[in-house]
Amino acid sequence: MSTTTIRRAVRASQAGLLGARQLADVVRHVAASQADWLTRVRLNPAGRWYEQLHIDDSHEVWLISWLPGQETGFHDHGGAAGAFTVVLGALLESRLVGPSASGQVIAKPIRPGAARSFGPRYIHNVRNTAVASLAVSVHAYSPPLSAMTRYELTTSGLVPLGTEAATAWSAA
Ligand SMILES: [Fe+2]
Repeated sequence: MSTTTIRRAVRASQAGLLGARQLADVVRHVAASQADWLTRVRLNPAGRWYEQLHIDDSHEVWLISWLPGQETGFHDHGGAAGAFTVVLGALLESRLVGPSASGQVIAKPIRPGAARSFGPRYIHNVRNTAVASLAVSVHAYSPPLSAMTRYELTTSGLVPLGTEAATAWSAA
């Protein structure tokens, strides 16, 4: 992808970590530069397809494609802040809001052009709920993801299932 695009987005913050709003700027800029990612989209019936578009000391950017029904499951981001935007199709983001044992799952659709950004303690599940439509999204994290913990939603709240190091997916 174009390093100019990223540099414009992060401007004065290039040397340090980016906050949620700055990451939202990054994903919006990358999304607007369609020539940098459109021909890189691939599909994988076995699971979400993803490719890292950019990484430096402060942040990383990923392109993800979602076939109908594909989802992340509940997960955190290992202490990284993040943002994502949908560039094709739509995604449904679910979060547990409130006390863990009595909280409510809130689901919000994210349509093309909308961006969601979050801080380092954020946990969510993202799914392509469409019956027949592909979804494509751009994600940014700062610092670059080092690990992610997956959770199961139970009647007692979110229960950790396990933690994956970045090597589990960056080698793909
Ligand atoms: Fe996530």
